[in-house]
Amino acid sequence: MTNTTTEFRVRRQDLRKTEVAHTFAEPAEGQVRFAIDAFALTSNNITYGAFGEAMKYWNFYPAPDGWGIIPVWGFATVVESRALGFAPGDRYYGYWPMASHAILTPGKQRPDSFSDIAEHRAGLASAYNGYTRAKTATVADDARYALFRGLYITSFLIDDYLPEVAPGVTQVLLSSASSKTAIGLAQALKVRGGVKVVGLTSGANADFVMHTGVYDSVVSYDAIETLDPSARSAFVDFAGNEATRARVHRHFGDALATSLMIGATDWDSPRGGGGDLPGPKPEMFFAPSVLAQRIAEWGPGGFDSRLTAAWESFLDSTEGWLEIVRDRGAASAEKHYRDLLEGRASPKQGVILTLLDA
Ligand SMILES: NC(=O)c1ccc[n+]([C@@H]2O[C@H](COP(=O)([O-])OP(=O)(O)OC[C@H]3O[C@@H](n4cnc5c(N)ncnc54)[C@H](OP(=O)(O)O)[C@@H]3O)[C@@H](O)[C@H]2O)c1
Repeated sequence: MTNTTTEFRVRRQDLRKTEVAHTFAEPAEGQVRFAIDAFALTSNNITYGAFGEAMKYWNFYPAPDGWGIIPVWGFATVVESRALGFAPGDRYYGYWPMASHAILTPGKQRPDSFSDIAEHRAGLASAYNGYTRAKTATVADDARYALFRGLYITSFLIDDYLPEVAPGVTQVLLSSASSKTAIGLAQALKVRGGVKVVGLTSGANADFVMHTGVYDSVVSYDAIETLDPSARSAFVDFAGNEATRARVHRHFGDALATSLMIGATDWDSPRGGGGDLPGPKPEMFFAPSVLAQRIAEWGPGGFDSRLTAAWESFLDSTEGWLEIVRDRGAASAEKHYRDLLEGRASPKQGVILTLLDA
C-alpha cells in the first residue's frame, strides 16, 4: 500500500523486546517523504538505544507507548515531495529511523544540504539534524559512507583532541579495539605516528584486531595487567565496561594522562559501581559537541578539507579487512540487531540494511 511505513521498534526499557509495526502517514504541506534504501547497523546504534532516554535519542523519531525507534545513518530517496526544492529521485545521506520511510520537514535548503526543522527535533544536536545530498559514485561507496562517515568523524575528532588533553603520552590504549570507530582512531594515530597504539579487545577478536594492521600491539581484556604500568598512556574507552575501566586506572594510576569515555559497546555490563578511581577523572566525549566547536574554530571549509584528507586515507585502509553484508527486510534487520545486541556480530562485517520491500 502506498504511504505505508514499516518500523522496527524496540522497548525503551528492554532492548531485547522488539516489534515490527506498519503505520500510515502522508506528508503535509512543506514536508517530504523519503524511502530509506541503505542504512548501516553497528554497535553505535545499540548505544543509541541504551542511552535513548539520557541522550534523547528516542526524540528523533517518536514511537508510541514505551516503544522507541533507533536512529541509523544512511541514504534515502525522495518518493513524494510537498516542499519546494525536492523532487522524487533526489537522494540524501543522514540520520534516519530504523524504518522503510521517513517524513521530514526541511528548513531552508542550501545547494547540497538541508536541516529537518520538525518541532520535536528542535534542541537536539545539529550534527544529527543535517542531511547532505548523496554524492557517492557507486553502490559500494554508498555502503562505506553509510557505515563509516558518522563513526569516522568521531575517530578523527578524538585523534585531533588527544594531543591537547594528553601531551607527551607514549601509548594510547583503545578498548573495543575491534569496533569501527576504534579502528578509525587507531589508523589516524598510526598515520600521525609518535605513539604506540594498543588495542584492548576480547580474546575472540584479538586476531581480527591484529589483522586490521593499524595497531602496534593487541592485548585481550584478561591480560591488561601484563602492560608496562609506567608507560605514560591515554585510555580511550569504546567498551564502557566499568570493571575494565577500573582495572586500567588501577594498573596505570598517575601514568594515565587522560581517560576518555566514548562509547558503550558492552551496553549490558553492570553500571554504577565505578567509584573513585586512581588517575585522571574519566571524561565524557560527545562527538557532536566537539564537532560544533571545531567547525566554529576552523570554519566549515577548513574542517571539511582536514577531514577529507584523513577520510580517504582511512577508507583505503579498510580494503584489507572489511566485508560488506547487504540484507533486506524486517526479518534480516531483526537478526542483525540481535547479533549486535548479544555480541555475536563479526567485527569484519559492515552490515547495510533496508526495510523496503524488494
Ligand atoms: N561519543 C561519541 O560521540 C561516539 C560517536 C561514535 C561512536 N561512539 C561509540 O563507539 C562505540 C563503537 O561503535 P561502532 O559502531 O564502531 O561499533 P562496532 O564496530 O559495531 O563494534 C563492534 C565491537 O564492539 C564490541 N561489542 C559489540 N557488541 C557487544 C556486546 N553486545 N557486548 C560486548 N561487546 C560488544 C566487540 O568489540 P571487542 O571484542 O573488541 O570489545 C565488537 O567487535 C559505540 O558504543 C558507539 O556508540 C561514540
